[in-house]
Amino acid sequence: MLKSIDLDGYIIDTPLSLAPMAGVTDKPFRNLCKSFGAGVVYTEFVSADGIVRENDKTINYMRFSEMERPVGIQIFGHDPETLARSAQYIEENLKPDIIDLNFGCPVPKVVKRGAGSAILKDLDQLEKIAKWVTRAVSLPVTVKMRAGWDKGNIVAVEAAQRLEAVGISLITVHPRTSKQRYTGEADWSIIRDVKQAVSIPIIGNGDIKSPQDAKRMLDETGCDGIMIGRATMGKPWLFRDVLHYLSTGKLLPEPTREEIAETFLKHLNLQQEHYSLMYAGNLFKTHACSYIRGMDGAAHLRYEINRAKNIDRIRELAEDYFYRK
Ligand SMILES: Cc1cc2nc3c(=O)[nH]c(=O)nc-3n(C[C@H](O)[C@H](O)[C@H](O)COP(=O)(O)O)c2cc1C
Repeated sequence: MLKSIDLDGYIIDTPLSLAPMAGVTDKPFRNLCKSFGAGVVYTEFVSADGIVRENDKTINYMRFSEMERPVGIQIFGHDPETLARSAQYIEENLKPDIIDLNFGCPVPKVVKRGAGSAILKDLDQLEKIAKWVTRAVSLPVTVKMRAGWDKGNIVAVEAAQRLEAVGISLITVHPRTSKQRYTGEADWSIIRDVKQAVSIPIIGNGDIKSPQDAKRMLDETGCDGIMIGRATMGKPWLFRDVLHYLSTGKLLPEPTREEIAETFLKHLNLQQEHYSLMYAGNLFKTHACSYIRGMDGAAHLRYEINRAKNIDRIRELAEDYFYRK
């Protein structure tokens, strides 16, 4: 059901992506999702300004391991020249498979500076950025965008046509407006409209929570691939479930308590290997709480996890909860 995608000679075998999510899709989580079959993963978005200044923290956000390939590094910014220079830096130093431009972020700190989804208010600027960046590098340059700024300004189709004309290789559409943030429902008909208006591959994103949703998005919009974000938190096996359903039409059983425990602890170990003791625990708390959502006793465990002083304490709590109950 999912067919490979050709990005100017670079083949993506499985166009089933893990959505970039700031504070979530770090290296440990990307590794884990990859092990469950995610076809493409993206870094959390990074600032083009930070890259050209060679800010250590920014550069670290972009590091990935070889097993993550194909991997995209997503950048945001407003100034075409800075974005182009940052893309060159990435191509020369990090060597990912894809550079992705963020035209979707609705966060005030970003849009105030004319970056992220604010660019959808000025399609000349959008085109200019895409042109500068595609000219600056030989890697495929892709875009992830929202439907428009607000409901009176749905610009996805025109934006996609302009982006295709300046050499963008693929577009991911999250069909909410910037004003909607994450509320309401993603309007999948906009993905279909964009797909029909251009010839480059279109990836559909927004509100996929189950294998059936994944199939419905492919059927309803005709998109070339899908991207999943929030539903993978605490459920990285969703990639395996979607792939199985798309190829067989059958649903895999829900994971057992033991399987959930195993994935939880695998994730925790990856986290511990990647971060210093000081940060590993705090950064894992959101993930830890996602795994236990809806399970009995989750409220009490969540409380204990949030009070935990370090990652070893979280491991102890989880082992107690999963194995000694
Ligand atoms: C916590 C969080 C952080 C996000 N960070 C980014 C980001 O860095 N770049 C981006 O393009 N989208 C970001 N998004 C949007 C997601 O990539 C995705 O488009 C959105 O969540 C809709 O997909 P979903 O319904 O499958 O979650 C973020 C979303 C969330 C919830």
